[in-house]
Amino acid sequence: MDKLVIQGGVPLHGEILISGAKNAALPILCASLLTEGPLTLGNVPQLHDIATMGKLLAHMGVKIEAQGEHQLSLDASHIHTCEAPYEMVKTMRASILVLGPLLARFGHARVSLPGGCAIGSRPVDLHIKGLQAMGADIRIEHGYIEAKADKLKGARIFMDIVTVTGTENLMMAAALADGTTVLENAAKEPEVVDLAECLIKMGARIEGVGTDVITVTGVPELRSAQHDVVCDRIEAGTYMVAAAMTGGKVKLRNVRADLLDVVIDKLRESGAEIDDDDDSITVSSAGALKSVSIRTAPHPAFPTDMQAQFMALNTVANAVATVTETIFENRFMHVQEMRRLGANIEVEGNTAIVRGCEFLEGATVMATDLRASAGLVLAALVARGETVIERIYHLDRGYERLEEKLGQLGANVRRIK
Ligand code: EPZ
Repeated sequence: MDKLVIQGGVPLHGEILISGAKNAALPILCASLLTEGPLTLGNVPQLHDIATMGKLLAHMGVKIEAQGEHQLSLDASHIHTCEAPYEMVKTMRASILVLGPLLARFGHARVSLPGGCAIGSRPVDLHIKGLQAMGADIRIEHGYIEAKADKLKGARIFMDIVTVTGTENLMMAAALADGTTVLENAAKEPEVVDLAECLIKMGARIEGVGTDVITVTGVPELRSAQHDVVCDRIEAGTYMVAAAMTGGKVKLRNVRADLLDVVIDKLRESGAEIDDDDDSITVSSAGALKSVSIRTAPHPAFPTDMQAQFMALNTVANAVATVTETIFENRFMHVQEMRRLGANIEVEGNTAIVRGCEFLEGATVMATDLRASAGLVLAALVARGETVIERIYHLDRGYERLEEKLGQLGANVRRIK
């Protein structure tokens, strides 16, 4: 398994391009199943999870053509199976996003239940409950979701927990249902908005996107479209924290500041300077940051996918901060690893108390999940000496060419096979 070796202490300077959003591209790839017209996508990030989703869709019969480094064309005119097998789903939970489209267009689907994962049990009960409300007959047998529906019918669905992929699955299913569907307590994440914008280009009728009540009026069929995937606000936020922690000056291109309001606020609160224009953000800092407490919650509140990164920031900040995780029940796997670097963190339930220390010391640490590994990279960038991060396949799932982009900014980082 690959490792990253990082020599800490180098202030980052320079300019990098931010890639398309993994968590927008994944549902949008599944939207190709909703129509036989080709779906052409731009700004698709080159990530392991994208390749995994491509394999799953190809397994079903979707023809996928790469038309350049970040451009894909998908043709779902000849689907020969509506099954998502366990061996594919177990490596990526987002595979559940084929369920809604398959049911809506073909009337049946057999999708393996995603297992749990490092950060929590992450059930899909709300996906299933919503599809049942739309008339689907769903049974769980031998670890598979067996779903049937002659024709989905519009329904009023209240989701008692805000769920990003739940909202996305139900929005895609409703796009081809008979009648109107109202999704209440819907997710407002920018990636949900981006999927909706793509669906609307394909002919879907969707109102209220970006609010917690989304209304979808079903149409008989959807058509081909072209869509550029929105920028990845979490990748951008990760590099913004890197610039602030190392005391450098970094300009991010191809990014939208309006998707990062709360992250920008928190970084300014910690003492970083941030300027932005319509497609770039510049972060600079003297490095000595103030501790800044965060509490994760659904958009537009502080994103859970930035929690580990701000935990890292607080390990070397000037005082004490609390980091409260309200979305997932086990998203503190990075705490143990950061302690190995000398961090002073105590965990009480879903809150971590982080006392800033003068410096961290390099060590060997292990990545456990995508964003935890990002937090470890940030800690390694400021730690004294060498840090080795093992199992970095977690990073490759969500960060395109990470060591290359960090290298462009002057970081001393190398990958060893
Ligand atoms: C999406 O996961 C993202 N993944 C996650 O990003 C992100 O952390 C998460 O949303 C929260 O923002 C993708 O978009 C592919 P949820 P998702 O359904 O949709 C509970 C990353 O790092 N829940 O919004 O799976 C669930 O257990 C990944 O890129 C139910 O109880 O998350 C959790 O506590 C990690 N029943 C909460 O809701 C359900 O049916 C939010 O989960 C669904 C969810």
